[in-house]
Amino acid sequence: MLKGKHIILGITGSIAAYKSAVLCRLLVSAGAEVRVVMTPLAKQFITPLTMATLSQHPILVDFFNPENGEWNSHVKLGEWADLYLIAPASANTMAKMATGVADNLLLTTYLSARCPVAIAPAMDLDMYAHIATQRNMEQLREDGVHIIEPGTGFLASGLSGKGRMAEPEQIVEAVKALFSVKKKSLEGKHYLVTAGATIEPIDPVRFISNHSSGKMGYAIAEALSQRGARVTLISGRTALACPAGVERVDVLSARDMYEACVERFEESDGAVMCAAVADYTPVEVAEQKIKKSDDNLSLALRRTDDIAATLGQRKGHRVLVGFAMETEAEEANAQHKLERKNFDFIVLNSLREQGAGFRGDTNVVTLIDPTSAEKLPLMSKSDVAERIADKIESLNR
Ligand code: C5P
Repeated sequence: MLKGKHIILGITGSIAAYKSAVLCRLLVSAGAEVRVVMTPLAKQFITPLTMATLSQHPILVDFFNPENGEWNSHVKLGEWADLYLIAPASANTMAKMATGVADNLLLTTYLSARCPVAIAPAMDLDMYAHIATQRNMEQLREDGVHIIEPGTGFLASGLSGKGRMAEPEQIVEAVKALFSVKKKSLEGKHYLVTAGATIEPIDPVRFISNHSSGKMGYAIAEALSQRGARVTLISGRTALACPAGVERVDVLSARDMYEACVERFEESDGAVMCAAVADYTPVEVAEQKIKKSDDNLSLALRRTDDIAATLGQRKGHRVLVGFAMETEAEEANAQHKLERKNFDFIVLNSLREQGAGFRGDTNVVTLIDPTSAEKLPLMSKSDVAERIADKIESLNR
């Protein structure tokens, strides 16, 4: 989502500036182009060398280079940016921003910036709570500045309270959310997304499951939610955190997932079936742990209900998207599944492809609908999720 985005990272004089290095690295690895502007005092907290290396560009502090008179144009920088992110934002800088003081490059760039501005305040708890700081923050909010709330915790002063800059990962999430706000194209829609692996108990200790990490389904839930849809994520076992704004229903077995889906499908606008659902479950679940013996053990398994096929029969005007993980005759098998389960389209991942499948952060997929097949290149799972969301949007029902 941040691929190709131009972000100015402003750093002010606060001890939290040490976190700006990690923040810069995260933004760059998410595909953003980052230019760093620092206040003169910020250089005391983190070196220009560190920030220049991580952002892959010289950092900017002064209006001009005293050696050769080269001008650092805050106007051009302001025009270039898609977002101006000031992290950390000190009480001093916030006060100046609130009143339009422009006595350093970071501040003149603020006044020149035509793009959205986000700040991550960082300061001691008493400075943060001070009425003057609160008044300035209120003013900045009114001026349209997005404030990434500080957290509560251990502060550099040795005290504990509110004022600790949000963690770099949280700031990146907030930045992503900011970029997605514009595109509320699925507002008013409600989708179910199944994700993760189901668990079929054998006895109180053991179960049958699979390698699904849930990453693809969670990325789809996030992509749909960021486009304004209400999303209910019906999740089997995963180690993932629920994306912001998404409602998660935790289930264990295929049967639980079936019930959770069937119950909610009618009132929804569609479902994306991304979970790796067990096809077989033990006929009986032993009440006590099965003792080992020297003999082989056979387990009787019965078929589980096919959730996707059931929803396919009740689909009506709703959108239904399926997944296929194939190891041979991939396209033909996926086509067959598309018809049998009444999907609008199916996302085929082949286990034969490098970078595709379980656990990883990337995938190689083909989007197959009744009339076409589009093979996408190797992409991050979140980019694949965006393409799936685009296709759902194009069905627009
Ligand atoms: O037939 P197969 O299991 O390969 O189909 C895969 C698709 O069907 C996926 O979208 C998967 O989430 C869904 N499915 C389901 N319920 C099952 C088995 C698969 O919803 N019991």
